[in-house]
Amino acid sequence: MTTYARDERLEVLPDTNALADRACEWLCAQALAAVATRGRFTLALSGGSTPRALYQRLAKHPELPWDRIELCFGDERTVPPDHPDSNARMAREALTGKPFVRAARVHRIRAELPPDEAASDYEQTLRALFAGQPWPRFDVVLLGLGSDGHTASLFPQSHALTERTRWVVANWVAKLQSQRITLSYPAINSAAQVLFMVAGEDKAAPLRDVLEGNAEIEEIPARGIAPSAGELSFFVDRAAATLLRRQ
Ligand code: 6PG
Repeated sequence: MTTYARDERLEVLPDTNALADRACEWLCAQALAAVATRGRFTLALSGGSTPRALYQRLAKHPELPWDRIELCFGDERTVPPDHPDSNARMAREALTGKPFVRAARVHRIRAELPPDEAASDYEQTLRALFAGQPWPRFDVVLLGLGSDGHTASLFPQSHALTERTRWVVANWVAKLQSQRITLSYPAINSAAQVLFMVAGEDKAAPLRDVLEGNAEIEEIPARGIAPSAGELSFFVDRAAATLLRRQ
């Protein structure tokens, strides 16, 4: 499997608060520009814990054109939307459930359905959102980085890494002994902007492996993220950047 040549942009912030502030500032600018030029802003939210602080900050921006914003998800756990592990639940608590954010259209992955049905259901949702396009060109896809080098729910040695046709797939994750629902590489890499938010010393080694290593994507799946006609950025905190040659 080839590794991608990328021209990613790296910003190192002093701590997690500065990271969330910077990501919020950047996302607000992206949203305003997208609505001004294309009439809407399409955003795929990341799961996990890192983006919570970003979502809480975004929810304090009533000036954003929320009625022109389409909120989607990059992946989901196969649990109901009120389950503690649900990415939709975390986003609802931090962002989509907030008063004026309700004006946005939230496109949840219905992960309570059987996995393959949930994946095809979500792909149909995205195909309607990006009608007539060969791939979903999100304005922004937000991603996190797992300590094992996974991103979205593209885990090492998992079958979804080979998906090149479908936009959304169910993915068996052996280490978790569970299915996940995830955007595929081509669906993520068709985005105009991909932003990784990475924080904590436990991410220092995988971040170095992504940015400065040469592992195959089967080993470090986040190395497979390389927008074919878009920009790739990493906003990281200093703890995650400690092993990088460049800062
Ligand atoms: C998920 C995410 C996943 C996450 C990383 C980092 O559903 O868990 O999509 O890819 O971004 O595991 O998670 P943390 O931010 O919690 O470290």
